Amino acid sequence: MCGIVGYIGYREAFPILIKGLYHLEYRGYDSAGIALINSNGGMNIYKTKGRVSELEEFCKNHDVSGTIGIAHTRWATHGEPNNINAHPHYSESKNLALIHNGIIENYTVLKKQLIQNGYHFQSNTDTEVLVQLIEYIKELNNVDLCTAVQLALGQVIGAYAIVVMEKGQNDRFIAARKSSPLVLGIGKDEFFIASDASPIIEYTNKVIYLEDEEIAIVHRHESPKIVTIGNIEKTREIIQLEISLSQLEKGGYPHFMLKEIFEQPQTLRDCMRGRVDITCNNVVLSGIIDNKKQFCDAKRIIILACGTSWHAGLIGEYLLEEFCRIPVEVEYSSEFRYRNPVIYPDDAVIAISQSGETADTLAAIDLARKAGAFVYGICNVVGSSIARNTHSGSYTHVGPEIGVASTKAFTAQLIVLAMMSLCIAREKKTVTEERFLKLLKELDRIPDKVEQILRTDESIKNLSEIFTYAHNFIYLGRGYNYPVALEGALKLKEISYIHAEGYPAAEMKHGPIALIDSEMPVVAIATDNGMYDKVISNIQEIKARNGRIIAIVSENDTAMKDIADYVIEIPATEDCFDPLLTIIPLQLLSYHIAVTKRRDVDRPRNLAKSVTVE
Ligand code: M6R
Repeated sequence: MCGIVGYIGYREAFPILIKGLYHLEYRGYDSAGIALINSNGGMNIYKTKGRVSELEEFCKNHDVSGTIGIAHTRWATHGEPNNINAHPHYSESKNLALIHNGIIENYTVLKKQLIQNGYHFQSNTDTEVLVQLIEYIKELNNVDLCTAVQLALGQVIGAYAIVVMEKGQNDRFIAARKSSPLVLGIGKDEFFIASDASPIIEYTNKVIYLEDEEIAIVHRHESPKIVTIGNIEKTREIIQLEISLSQLEKGGYPHFMLKEIFEQPQTLRDCMRGRVDITCNNVVLSGIIDNKKQFCDAKRIIILACGTSWHAGLIGEYLLEEFCRIPVEVEYSSEFRYRNPVIYPDDAVIAISQSGETADTLAAIDLARKAGAFVYGICNVVGSSIARNTHSGSYTHVGPEIGVASTKAFTAQLIVLAMMSLCIAREKKTVTEERFLKLLKELDRIPDKVEQILRTDESIKNLSEIFTYAHNFIYLGRGYNYPVALEGALKLKEISYIHAEGYPAAEMKHGPIALIDSEMPVVAIATDNGMYDKVISNIQEIKARNGRIIAIVSENDTAMKDIADYVIEIPATEDCFDPLLTIIPLQLLSYHIAVTKRRDVDRPRNLAKSVTVE
């Protein structure tokens, strides 16, 4: 959480930093701040509670000159969101300013020591401790800023991506990371630093991803120098990024979320490009082919993920068990990492993460690797920490997902899991060739079917207006559509703040059916698959108790029209690919309900796009 950005070069830093913060707002948006060093070496720090736009407005009447600066947008961990707790934080003498993404776990001990040494604290944050510690060490040992940063970080337990600047030093800033991402942009006579590449890409596509415990000394007139906390010099490869600025913009849509929902036919094609080949009747997933033994010989697969990615993992369980006949366990990373799980060296672990930065999933991967398991990543963000900390993996290739609610990343995760399952199943011969080819052809048709569903957007919008009164929603599904019910409920609650629960439809009679009355909307996924008759019976039970039913059905369904209050038709597909289609109307429904309720769809309250704290 939190977005950080820094600039040094020949241009005015302020507009670059503010624009950068807008790009990073998806990481947190409860306060924002900026520090600039002007040509006289004077440092100005401005901070405001609320969005970046409020900071920009505030700065209009202040000196924002300077060609070096750092800026921050916050998702609060320690200390409520207010002006004082906003970053940058400064040291006792006000000579140092620092921005931070992460958590300093031993901050109370360090703070106590600093207070004993005469330091005073303004904020309730862990970050202020770090900037004070750096200054304390610098003065005590009479060392330069980089050495002080190295010594201070040696005392710190926790996660951090930091950038620190010193008053009077307008030629240099120092950045460092551990367990929180940091990208260094290399321009011509200018340098950038940020939590991800989005603030940088407009100016340069040449970047260096800093590794854990590395420090970058970024000087205006020199090539950046990278050293470790232990002062070992490092050479890092410069990577050429392939994302474009237009991928980061809304492209005419009112919200990123809607843009990302509508991008899905294309992102699914992109995800399958070069992998699903229906002319050669093949699916080529290089990460699986290179590691086929790890999967084919695995006694068990463990899937680790959080949130929407965890829902994708549940569908992965159904796919891998059905086609590859390998037992699968799907774990919340946050639970797995702390519960002393049994992990065998011949387990294959799949970690799923859009951002590739989720702290709990990173820690769970670490645990699995230490136990000797093979770990495969399914990530969207290229070069992210999870992509780099796994043995192998597949990217989803959907481009940047900016809306906090995950949409296109989810469907691409499903496509990758489907391709993996087909690849392994063919290798293990657990699926007949005939079935394999049928599934492959159908997978290839999915993007067109998604496109067809998106054409019903207007009627889903109309439907959403009927249900904005509701304070609760229930989502039901069975088989492959049970995790879709969970995902539909998550989409609704996170962006509309309406309470919603997903259940396997047959579980209703074991308790939740008590909630049903004429006020309760029930979204039931009842497509034409192996579970259809069972789901119909479950829906009848809801109907008998006056629940208001919105049913997602396959086109040409006739039975449901007499039972459900509202019906949304989607094209038919194989049972195992149903989630790729059934989730689309649920994404649209959540989106339109949230818009009608005037919610901040792309930046819902209390959330951040990537959860880099535990
Ligand atoms: O980046 P990740 O896929 O690891 O993120 C996991 C969750 O934080 C994420 O899916 C979250 O639940 C989304 N807000 C859901 O829309």
